[in-house]
Amino acid sequence: MGKPSRDAEGAVKDPKQLGLGTRLAHLGRPGAKAHGFVNPPLHRGSTVLYETMAQRRAHMRKRFDQALTYGLQGSATHHALEDVIADIEGGHRAQILPTGLAAVTTALLAYLGAGDHVLMPDSVYGPVRSFCDTMAKRLGITTTYYHAESTAESLAPHFRPETRVLYCESPGSHTFEIQDVPALAALAHARGAAVLMDNTWGIHAFQPFLHGVDASIQALTKYPVGHSDVLLGSVTVREEKHWHRLRDAALALGQYASPDDCWLALRGLRTMAVRLDRQAQSALEIAGFLRARPEIREVLHPALPGAPGHDLWKRDFSGACSLFGIVFDPRFTIEDTHRFVEALQLFGIGASWGGYESLALPTNGFVSRTVDGKALEAPMVRLHIGLEEPDDLIADLAQALDFASGGQGGSASLDPPLGP
Ligand SMILES: Cc1ncc(COP(=O)(O)O)c(C=O)c1O
Repeated sequence: MGKPSRDAEGAVKDPKQLGLGTRLAHLGRPGAKAHGFVNPPLHRGSTVLYETMAQRRAHMRKRFDQALTYGLQGSATHHALEDVIADIEGGHRAQILPTGLAAVTTALLAYLGAGDHVLMPDSVYGPVRSFCDTMAKRLGITTTYYHAESTAESLAPHFRPETRVLYCESPGSHTFEIQDVPALAALAHARGAAVLMDNTWGIHAFQPFLHGVDASIQALTKYPVGHSDVLLGSVTVREEKHWHRLRDAALALGQYASPDDCWLALRGLRTMAVRLDRQAQSALEIAGFLRARPEIREVLHPALPGAPGHDLWKRDFSGACSLFGIVFDPRFTIEDTHRFVEALQLFGIGASWGGYESLALPTNGFVSRTVDGKALEAPMVRLHIGLEEPDDLIADLAQALDFASGGQGGSASLDPPLGP
């Protein structure tokens, strides 16, 4: 690592050479431009006033992120967050969107139009499947779902002359398949398609632009926000030619986000590296514990040696987050998994992930697959590990597994009980 230095405004210069924690502590801070305050200002606004028309015209000729002629172009708060996200993803520029799902749909609409075809992994985040099967279809966009573990060879026949986008999500939602993104991206580029990827799971651990991705999507709602209190998304692009496409789509759709939410996301990002470090470590410890339990047939955690996708994970990722799945032994029913999550005392039953609190969510019945239903045949639960002490979480999981197996356990075994 080289020696850090500061620019004329007092902000750290060229931070790309520094470690993630250091970059998260220093990026997106305007220095002297914010009168020396540590954090960027919170600018709320729609109208921007000018003294003269000449001033306004001069502003409108500037790059969008310096123009600031209307709220839809963002503010210093939005742009500070965009700078940090673009840096973490290792990309050219980022656009903030109001939710992770809006980031996906805006990115898809930036690349696709009537008559176009998109290739989607079967394990894609459910609401993206709904978008493809409803609104995208009505707009004349055709979707083919492909097996999430496709090789370039098995995916090749699915490409058509009108295929414009190969979409990846690795690991897959709920079933955690790791995709061979570099091989699939090389094939897509050879066939003239752009590569879009949901990189939410690998935010700190997968560098999308080193693996052939053109536009990388984040649900910032998860680890960047980190406190389960804000919805937000982003799309980061590899280079300028992708930027114009994306920016035009966001403007045409009138998409941006509340500056208050951006400010909270920036606050969350400052501690993201330590949270992720701790949560990922706890998750691996808990995954190891669960793998040794007789009730569990398989743990779907790509960073766990021997787990599905581990070899690709080891090749392409530098770390993991704290979201993984457990597959129950076939003697358990889906109702047993419901009894299991209801018996947990420290895990909430709820959607989303990336916050400081642990969550457990049964998978079967809430998730669909149209290419390979086998992945969902056995009863499954998705776990998100928060910042609680891993020993406490392990004790809670143990008592809930005992309970689901018909033994003692449930709420009586934790002393004292910790609320609903
Ligand atoms: C993988 C993935 N991508 C995107 C999203 C959507 O994010 P948001 O809830 O901010 O719309 C989610 C939400 O759970 C997700 O799990």
